[in-house]
Amino acid sequence: MISGEKLRNVAVLGAAGKMGSGITMLTALEMAAQSLLPENVGQSYILYAIDVNNENLAGLLRYIENQASKYAEKNTVYLRKVYEDRADLVENEEIIREYVKHTLSIIRPVNRIENAAEVNLVFEAASENPDLKIDLFRQIEKVNPSKPWYLTNTSSIPISRLEKEAGLAGRIIGFHFYNPPAVQKLIEIIPTHSTSEDLRQFALDLARTLKKVIVFSNDKAGFIGNGHFMRDILFATGKVAQLAEEGLSETQAIYILNKVSHELLVRPMGIFQLVDYVGIDVCQYIMQVMAPYYPEERLHSSLLDRMLDAGVKGGQYPDGSQKDGFFKYEKGKIVGVYDLSTKTYIDVNLLDAHAREWGKPWPEGVLQWKVAVKMGNPYEALAQYFSGLKGMVSKSAKLAMEYGKASAEIAIKLVNTGVALSEEDVNTVLRTGFYHVYGPVNSFFE
Ligand SMILES: NC(=O)c1ccc[n+]([C@@H]2O[C@H](COP(=O)([O-])OP(=O)(O)OC[C@H]3O[C@@H](n4cnc5c(N)ncnc54)[C@H](O)[C@@H]3O)[C@@H](O)[C@H]2O)c1
Repeated sequence: MISGEKLRNVAVLGAAGKMGSGITMLTALEMAAQSLLPENVGQSYILYAIDVNNENLAGLLRYIENQASKYAEKNTVYLRKVYEDRADLVENEEIIREYVKHTLSIIRPVNRIENAAEVNLVFEAASENPDLKIDLFRQIEKVNPSKPWYLTNTSSIPISRLEKEAGLAGRIIGFHFYNPPAVQKLIEIIPTHSTSEDLRQFALDLARTLKKVIVFSNDKAGFIGNGHFMRDILFATGKVAQLAEEGLSETQAIYILNKVSHELLVRPMGIFQLVDYVGIDVCQYIMQVMAPYYPEERLHSSLLDRMLDAGVKGGQYPDGSQKDGFFKYEKGKIVGVYDLSTKTYIDVNLLDAHAREWGKPWPEGVLQWKVAVKMGNPYEALAQYFSGLKGMVSKSAKLAMEYGKASAEIAIKLVNTGVALSEEDVNTVLRTGFYHVYGPVNSFFE
């Protein structure tokens, strides 16, 4: 467990958002654990859950109540010990209720940033907008004399930019949870050149306490996760354009690229389904944030622009279900592909029949991601599968090999340009944060 001083008075900015709600929950549980230590009894613990969205703040409390209850149910032995002096708590249910009540009592859902006037620690998970984040930091700095530490969840903005523009020298670090924070094991930690050693150590200890897989990234826009993901998208959109020039319709090409990246590359989902999951608008925005930092590359996709111009965004509903984007979804399954020329969804079965014809012969006995994931170490099976793919003469197999190779090149470039510290780090981010069963740097596509 980390030294708890900083965790006594904390704020989460954007607490009711997708990431903020998970971060608030994890922080609340950790603060509850600290406050229940014998040496901390009587100390005050306050967590300001700050967001401008009242409706979602109410939902946040319900979510945390639910999660705290689940945590308590799993940890009754520990909680019995914590409450051993409480003669009034006899049944498990009473103990669980007491713990949940205690955890909720730590949280103050509020709208106004001025509530952060006395906090020592700020988790920032507000919308991915540099100006908004800088403005929120400045507002806190104006009212808070205690020089708090800031852990920002930005997934693309260089931390040093936030640090400089908000005047936080040495007091900010990237602490990049993946979605959803409670489930996803990965944390990218991104110190700036001036992040204090104490803050760096705190972030590391906190990530360890949360039992996360930790990868340090250098402070370059997009870091490792989006550094790879955005360029992977651009490889796919570039291929769509190429296939369209070769005579396929754009919709057919989108379907094929998705199918190849999903099925033939043994990934949990295809590239355009992942864009839908994250949100087409979010991906476009992340590219826009990253682009000025990589002037020699063209980090921009006109395909994403055209989808957004047509009003198609993807992303998720508050209950976590998928909105339509490149694909139309029914009960989580793809049933149609958006056709930009007619602004309608085309039946996926028609496109699948066409893709099978275009790419024949499609590899037989493809290793499925859900099978590989259960194997523990699928390396041998993957090596065998990809070696078979390499030997095939078909457009689909060739496209898969090209895609795998491009993904490896992106990863190696992240190391060569000083974003990632090692190839292994890129592999860890893709395996942990994106659930790939193999890292992009491998020998399968050489
Ligand atoms: N969604 C992901 O997959 C993901 C993954 C990793 C990191 N991130 C990063 O996490 C951050 C949040 O992303 P998200 O997906 O949770 O977004 P989101 O839109 O779900 O949440 C953002 C929250 O910020 C709130 N907000 C906006 N203006 C505010 C203000 N002035 N004061 C207080 N709150 C304000 C919004 O009401 C909203 O609840 C972004 O920096 C994003 O890049 C997102």
